Amino acid sequence: MTLTDTNSPLNADQARRVQQALADLNDAQRQWLSGYLAGLGAQSAGESPTGDSSPAKAATTALTVLYGSQTGNAEGVAELAAERARAKGFEVTLTSMADAGKKTLKAVERLLVVVSTQGDGDPPDPALEFHELMMGRKAPKLTGTRFAVLGLGDASYEHFCQTGKEFDARLAELGGERLRERADCDVDYEERAEAWIDEVLESLAGDLATPPPAEAAETDAAQGAQPSYSKKHPFMAEVLTRQPLNGRGSDKQTLHLELSLEDSGLEYLPGDAVGVVPQNDPAHVDELIAMLKLDAESPLDEGRVLRDALLADFEVTTLTRPFLKQWAEWSQAPELQRLLGEEARDELRDWLHGRQIIDVIEQFPVDGIDAAQFSAALRKLPPRLYSIASSQAAAADEVHLTVAVVRYETHGRARNGVTTSYLADRIEPGDRVPIYIDRNKQFKLPDDDEAPLIMIGPGTGVAPFRAFLQEREERGAGGDNWLFFGDRHFRSDFLYQAEWLKWRQQGLLTRLDVAFSRDQADKVYVQDRMREQAERLYAWLEAGAYVYVCGDAEFMAPDVHQALRDIIREQGGHGEAGADDYLRQLQQEKRYQRDIY
Ligand SMILES: Cc1cc2nc3c(=O)[nH]c(=O)nc-3n(C[C@H](O)[C@H](O)[C@H](O)COP(=O)(O)OP(=O)(O)OC[C@H]3O[C@@H](n4cnc5c(N)ncnc54)[C@H](O)[C@@H]3O)c2cc1C
Ligand SMILES: Cc1cc2nc3c(=O)[nH]c(=O)nc-3n(C[C@H](O)[C@H](O)[C@H](O)COP(=O)(O)O)c2cc1C
Repeated sequence: MTLTDTNSPLNADQARRVQQALADLNDAQRQWLSGYLAGLGAQSAGESPTGDSSPAKAATTALTVLYGSQTGNAEGVAELAAERARAKGFEVTLTSMADAGKKTLKAVERLLVVVSTQGDGDPPDPALEFHELMMGRKAPKLTGTRFAVLGLGDASYEHFCQTGKEFDARLAELGGERLRERADCDVDYEERAEAWIDEVLESLAGDLATPPPAEAAETDAAQGAQPSYSKKHPFMAEVLTRQPLNGRGSDKQTLHLELSLEDSGLEYLPGDAVGVVPQNDPAHVDELIAMLKLDAESPLDEGRVLRDALLADFEVTTLTRPFLKQWAEWSQAPELQRLLGEEARDELRDWLHGRQIIDVIEQFPVDGIDAAQFSAALRKLPPRLYSIASSQAAAADEVHLTVAVVRYETHGRARNGVTTSYLADRIEPGDRVPIYIDRNKQFKLPDDDEAPLIMIGPGTGVAPFRAFLQEREERGAGGDNWLFFGDRHFRSDFLYQAEWLKWRQQGLLTRLDVAFSRDQADKVYVQDRMREQAERLYAWLEAGAYVYVCGDAEFMAPDVHQALRDIIREQGGHGEAGADDYLRQLQQEKRYQRDIY
């Protein structure tokens, strides 16, 4: 943009001379100058000088993007926000809540927070400590901070985007000024999150004196280039093998899948997951269409017809509160309206359990809803994640998964999990399935090959530990490895039994403790085995062991956490608070990592 007397407060001569001077400068010099002028501005406005001559400190375009993420979604959104903000000319600091403390928010003028919700309305593990700090009395004052919060969550959970809501409310309570209303994103968060980023940056555009140098914008755009395969552009991986992992007589169906990554260029590390982009069950989709009295071939946007869209684009099973609200409005059913009222909160939770979209449509029929209206009430079909059960060092261009097939019966209907039944019933070896790699920085082997590992993974939770051991074997890592595994029955549910026993014999697996819950009158779980081994387990911790927990988030992970806490308390002679500090310290040192679902 050429500087003139009409687009600046300068007179024509000043504008010409400034323009001439700027023309002589390269980008770095211009950037320095902008910081220098900003610093001068701050001083003349009576603010204290920074005492640091670096233009970075003096610049008034600083923006902090803070994220709390368990499986990387919020992290990815935060990275995108940082990238777009940089391209606009902001000087961005991107920080994980895991590395954040009181000082992180000191004198922060512009703050974007992206955070997911885990557990039962809890913050993600890496954000736990920062969340506690922010909610407590020692939280920093935030007068002068302008902020915006984006929550990631899943509308089928009762406490939808709870952590985002808590941060949003607390930042305002601490004196911060909202740049924009909080946005709560469901599992199909991408478009909404992108729109939020653009809107927030737009509302900050006035803070930027000059547009960014074109070169910087280009570089950032290039850095943000998408990996070759992603959720939106999955790789069609051939299914090489699909084997049952349970023996005869088991009441479970767990599958070992081997997929080919040949010619994909995809890379993964132990601890990462594969995202599978599923298709809904055609029989279920047809039943829905018939119940709604719709034409399967009704055209929708982008040349799709209803049946194809319901098969591939939309979630047609999981019942969420937003869908229910929409259906209550359409049906005007008093029962639904009552259930959605504030007084029926607990009742609604119980009512939703085991119910799906089809049950609502059947129980509260609505006439006249057309294909476009119905599909607009649905959320996008989200891919499902599966922990990778192989090391690329050992499996080369394959990736292995351990999949527990979801089948149950509720409210008189047999139900099948969308993705697991797709993998179990609707594809065959030789078919191709759409996948992508979902990195997980929060669940990684230590760099130190001598560090001992304690791995707790009942059921499919054992998957990443197969990858860990394959990797350690390939690396010739000398560190001790201890696995706690559990399932229902020794005879039928000892997943990958032969491999553990082989590694145990070879010495790679130093200890193997198993808990088969239904082989005796009293149920025994991995946490019971941990308690039995309390002294040894604590000695391993003291010797620098890394603890990994993978699998069920609802019961197993809290019980294992409690067992660890008790072991540390009793064996280490710590009080309750001391044991919590010990665990927190482990978490900070990345020696306590969880991948729970
Ligand atoms: C990081 C991560 C890693 C994962 N790793 C693995 C893995 O290695 N292996 C694996 O098998 N899974 C893994 N999962 C779980 C996986 O992503 C899917 O959630 C799971 O396979 C179910 O998917 P689905 O599409 O088959 O079922 P969906 O169609 O999504 O149905 C599952 C839902 O059905 C409901 N439901 C299930 N059982 C019952 C019941 N008895 N009564 C009432 N309602 C019920 C619950 O609401 C449940 O959420 C992982 C998840 C995450 C987040
Ligand atoms: C075990 C588990 C528990 C979850 N609990 C909640 C919840 O209570 N409320 C919610 O809104 N979302 C919940 N979610 C959904 C996540 O917030 C959502 O998948 C989000 O995109 C994850 O982002 P992240 O990868 O940055 O952690 C849960 C997800 C998992 C796997």
